[in-house]
Order: sequence, then C-alpha cells, then structure tokens
Amino acid sequence: MCGIIGYVGKKNSLHVLINGLKRLEYRGYDSAGVAFINKNNIEIIKEKGKVAELEKKIDFTKESNIGISHTRWATHGAANEINAHPHSCEKITLVHNGIIENYEILKKELKQKGYTFYSETDSEVVAVLLNDLYKENDIIESIIKMKKILKGSYALAILCSDYPNQIYTIRKDSPLIIAKDSEGSYVASDVPAFLEYTNKYSILAEEEIAILTKDNIEVINNKKEKITKETITFEGDINSSQKDGYDHFMLKEIFEEKDVIKRIMKDYNTFDKLIEKMKFLDKYKKFDIIACGSAYHVGVVAKYLIEEFANIPVNAEIASEYRYKNNFLDKESLAIFISQSGETADSIASLRKVKAEGIDTLGIVNVVGSSIARESDNVIYTKAGPEIAVATTKAFVAQLTIVTLMSLYLGYKNKNIKKDKVTEILKELDIIENNIDKLLKYDYKEIAKLLYKHEKIFFIGRGYDYAIALEGSLKLKEISYIHSEAYAAGELKHGTISLIEENTPVICLLTDENIIDKTISNIKEVKARGAYTIGVSNEEHEFLNNNIIIPKTKRIITPLLEVIPLQLISYEVAKLRDCDIDKPRNLAKSVTVE
Ligand code: AGP
Ligand code: GLU
Repeated sequence: MCGIIGYVGKKNSLHVLINGLKRLEYRGYDSAGVAFINKNNIEIIKEKGKVAELEKKIDFTKESNIGISHTRWATHGAANEINAHPHSCEKITLVHNGIIENYEILKKELKQKGYTFYSETDSEVVAVLLNDLYKENDIIESIIKMKKILKGSYALAILCSDYPNQIYTIRKDSPLIIAKDSEGSYVASDVPAFLEYTNKYSILAEEEIAILTKDNIEVINNKKEKITKETITFEGDINSSQKDGYDHFMLKEIFEEKDVIKRIMKDYNTFDKLIEKMKFLDKYKKFDIIACGSAYHVGVVAKYLIEEFANIPVNAEIASEYRYKNNFLDKESLAIFISQSGETADSIASLRKVKAEGIDTLGIVNVVGSSIARESDNVIYTKAGPEIAVATTKAFVAQLTIVTLMSLYLGYKNKNIKKDKVTEILKELDIIENNIDKLLKYDYKEIAKLLYKHEKIFFIGRGYDYAIALEGSLKLKEISYIHSEAYAAGELKHGTISLIEENTPVICLLTDENIIDKTISNIKEVKARGAYTIGVSNEEHEFLNNNIIIPKTKRIITPLLEVIPLQLISYEVAKLRDCDIDKPRNLAKSVTVE
C-alpha cells in the first residue's frame, strides 16, 4: 500500500508532490505528508486523513525544488499525524512503503544507543537506523549497510540534509519506479504520480539504489557499479485517470468493461488466434491458481469452468495461505498468479516460492512491468487500462475473460468442446457488448433502495454462480460497509441459515441450468424463514421477491455477464449510504504488505 512520490528539478516541488499524491491516493489514504528542502532546511508537514487535508497546511509560496511525500496505509501505529510519513532523525528524512519485520529488535537496540522515538511506526526505526549508520559511513555505504540489516519489505525515498540536492531511493518487495524529464527527476510508487509530466519510466529492481538530482538519475547496485535501466513507455494516458463525467471512477470503469473485453478479444476472436495464444498450456496437466481478493474469486470461477469444460484438476488458492503451505505441483503443473496490480505481497511471495521449486509460472496481470509480470515465466496482460477505483471491476472482468478463454481452449484440447462450438463461443464473446449494454440499461437504484438500510445481506449460488456470489458479496462489503456473506446455496442449511430473519435480503444467483432445481430448493428454504429473495437469472421465477434477468448466453460466458449487475447494485447501495466509493475506508488498491 501507500503512495510515494519524490521530485527534484526546476519546478516547485510542493506542487509536484501534492498533485502526485492525489493521483496515488487510491493506494492508501489514512494520512499524508511531505518533506521539502527550503533554504537548505528540511521542512516536514503531515496530516491525518486525505491529501486535501494536508494541502490546506501547505504554504505553496515557499520556494523548494526538492521533496519527498507519502500517503499512508497504516500497518504499525494508528492513522494519525504523528505516525504519518515522512519520518526523520537528525540528518535523515524518509518515506516508506512496506513492513519492517525486525523493527522491534532494531528499535530496542537503537534505544540502548540513546535514541528516542516519537511514533509507533516501523518506518521511523528505518530513519533512526540509517541516521545511526550515517555517522560512520558515507550515505551510499550507509544505505548498503542498512539493507543488510533490515528484514521485511520496503520502498524508500530518502533525503539527507548534507546533500540538499539529492534524493536516494531503494526498494525490496515494495514497488518503486523512477522517471526523468527536462524539468527534473521523479521517484514514485506508480506511474499516475508523474504521468502529467512524462510517460517514460524505469522500474527499480530489487535492492538497486537510485540517486536522483535535477539533471540526472544514477542507478547502482550493492557494489556501487552503475546500472543502465530499460525505459518503459506507459500505454495509458492521464485522461485514463480522470472520471470523464462519471460520478466515480468505479462507475466509469464498469462502463468500460465492454471495451476491455473487445480489446482482449482482438487477440482471440478466431479459432486460430485462440490456439496460437493458448497452445503454451498444452504441456500442463494440473493448475494451481493463486491470488487474493477479487482476483482469487476469478480463480474460483476458473476452477469451475476448467474442471467442467476441460476435465482438468484446478486448485484455486488464497495467496496468503498458499505461501505457507505445501503445494503438490510438479513438472506437468502450472502455477497461475492473477493480479490487477502485480504488486500484491502475498501473491508475489507465493510466486517466488513456487519458482524456487522449479514450477512453471504464469501471471495474468493488468499493470505492465509489475513485479508479478516480470517475475512470472510467462505473462498475459489483461489490458484493462489503469484501474483507479479501489474496488476492482473492469480488471476483474478482464481477468475473467482471460480465464474463460483458457477454459475454452483447454476444453477443445481435451476434446470436450468441438471446433465449431469454440468458434461459436468466440463469436458470442466478441459481441458480448450487446448483452452488456442490456445490463447497463437496467435501473439498479430500485433494488438498492431495498437493500441499503440492511446491515446483513447474503449471496447464494451453486457452481460458478457461487464463485460470482463471492465477488458480489465482496463488492458490496468493500464499498457500502454492509456485512455480507456469500454461501454455496447447499451449504447455508448447515448453520448459517440461523441468521435468516424476516426480510433478510438474500441475492440468489441461479443461472446454472444444470443445478438450478437444487438452487431453487435452497431459495425456498430461506424464503420459508422470511428472506427477501432477489434473483439474478436467465428467466422469471414467481417464487422470487425480485429478479434481475440477464441475457441468456453460452454457459461458459455467463459468469462474465452476471457479475455486472452485482457490481452496479453494490455501487448504487454505496451511493445511497453516502460512502467514499472510490476510496473505501481501510482499503488500498494494491496490498503491498503482508
Ligand atoms: C478488489 O475489489 C479488492 N480491492 C481486492 O480484493 C483486490 O482484488 C486484491 O487486493 C488483489 O489485488 P491484485 O489483483 O492487485 O493482486
Ligand atoms: N509500515 C509503515 C507504516 O505503518 C508503512 C505503511 C505503508 O506502506 O503505508 O507507517
């Protein structure tokens, strides 16, 4: 989590830093701060809450051409001003993304050396440690020594008062990128921070050190050898990080979903293209799909689809669990990592674990050049464009499109789906926008009015309907703060049905005609206990209190359609509850800490 931007150059650094923080706010926003050098003094200004609160405290008439800044997602210490970054100790001031796992022992040792601490954070310990090391070494040597001592994850932007024209940066596990234009040098957690100035950047690799000045960026390794970095051109544009008239990024991104699928289908919309792009899967007999949150839900849908259509075993795994347990992969297995950001700490750790075991890996990733994309043996980019809303929608649909295509290919390869059927399904995918348009025209406000005052809402379904129910429930929780649970419809009666009361809303996904009768029985069980049932189905059912009809389509494509009403219902409910839809409380767009 957290957003970092540093700048040194001809411009007023305060404007660059605050503008950049606003574009990074989706990464974490419980507090923010800047440190800038004004007349050779490092000034620090911090504030609890959003960047706009910090902005009110800043005197932009102050002349400064160098500074670092941070929006925080707290891991150690409350979200308040004192714990906000930057953190400083004597000559060192820095901002940090990540978790220092050995900070307590380091803090104890530094206290024994006479240092005192003002915050509860692990990050302040880094500033004190580096300052202590700096007393006996030059700044670069101190940073190299610091790296050997720290355990955990970090992306750091550092100022040293003895070098008022330089910013030092280094990363391990947490992302950092560097960029340069005619006006100066930038370091940031992600591209939007400086996209209005340049779309060309380089990715700092693990443990490389970058020294930024207004005219140059020098990158060195542990041996102080200079490193030449590859320049990447960001394909999106600054407008992709504007709302374009929508009330929220989330709504804009839902309405972009049909274009995203169209863009993906350009590479897959014929039988030959599908074969060409997916034939790398031929050597694998077993798949583990590892991810977090919504990306994990894509893995669950993929499990149902691949096992049904290709008759191949698939494990859908939560990365934070997977990284600490045995897997049963071999040379004929493929470990697939699904991630919008490509920087999710638990997914990266799982990737590194299986790679060390010699297992082939595939990343299904949205952010080009992200850690998972770079470290996977193979990568499929989802091309959803920058996703700004913390609650994922278009990236989810993009990931789902890719795994649907994989299921289709594997089904054909294992002789469960004939070539003409494959072509039929590809054609239907290629014109899915017609069906999506019908879903976008629906008025979900009426249903939202029935839901928004409730404090518990259930989602049920069987098979891939259950997998999509998981995602529908998460969307509702994360943006409306209503407690919600998704349950396999047949499992509800084994305990949780005790929570169903008069008028408890139950959203019932019943598109899977193979098991619809069983799901209907479960719906009637909750109705018998007073539930208010809202269906998501392909046809009318008189036993439902309310029903959203989704266009009938090929079975393998249905999950792509049925998730859209759930995204929009969550959006409308959150709006009625006046929630901060694009930046929900406690959340961040990319969970780069454990
Ligand atoms: C999705 O709405 C959530 N914000 C979250 O669950 C997210 O899907 C999860 O953190 C995984 O992120 P990633 O796709 O960037 O790895
Ligand atoms: N662990 C640090 C803190 O709690 C950094 C958190 C972040 O990455 O924002 O302040």
